[in-house]
Amino acid sequence: MTGQERPGAERWVPSRGGMRMLREAAHDCRGCELWKDATQVVFSDGPVSARMMLVGEQPGDREDLAGEPFVGPAGRRLDDALDAAGIERDGVYLTNAVKHFRFERRGKRRIHEKPAVGHIDACRPWLEAEIAVVRPTVIVALGATAARSLLGRTVRIGAVRGTVLESADKRGTPLVVTVHPSSLLRLPDQADRAAAFDAFVHDLRRAGELVT
Ligand code: URA
Ligand code: SF4
Repeated sequence: MTGQERPGAERWVPSRGGMRMLREAAHDCRGCELWKDATQVVFSDGPVSARMMLVGEQPGDREDLAGEPFVGPAGRRLDDALDAAGIERDGVYLTNAVKHFRFERRGKRRIHEKPAVGHIDACRPWLEAEIAVVRPTVIVALGATAARSLLGRTVRIGAVRGTVLESADKRGTPLVVTVHPSSLLRLPDQADRAAAFDAFVHDLRRAGELVT
């Protein structure tokens, strides 16, 4: 830390200690305003010994209530794809670029709202700390928000998909960028959905091959 206060999660992230300390400290984070309306922080799931890390966008409605990432519809799609790619979900470390749910209230419903670049950048110190503890040998960015966090710049998924990049973390971890599983749920046409699912599985399998 410098003498000057910077916005963002940095001052809440413990500078030493393992995953348990990170997880506990995240409950107190006030690095951006998203903690105010959310039920709770949603940190991560999966073993610290994992060699593959998957990074999503932010918790959704279901995750916000459960306190666990990827337990809703997008998570089920992700499970199916991991299964098809021959990757065990229990063996991967699963987290999000932004740890609090951003939404808009419409009547009784809470409608998912994409995190802004400011939220992504504010939350990045948590992701960096997770990478430093887990030390994955490959990271998968699920969608543009995760890609923004891991690359430190905004990219178009279509432009970087299929290439192996380097994460902007201190270790320069090999990074595969793919779509977010919720994008598969939104396609109205059945054939398009099946093709998009296959392409997603292909990306996950490719990432699996990079694990060392
Ligand atoms: N979408 C995400 O990006 N992460 C979750 O945890 C759930 C849905
Ligand atoms: Fe902190 Fe991230 Fe939550 Fe913002 S979204 S309060 S930076 S944990």
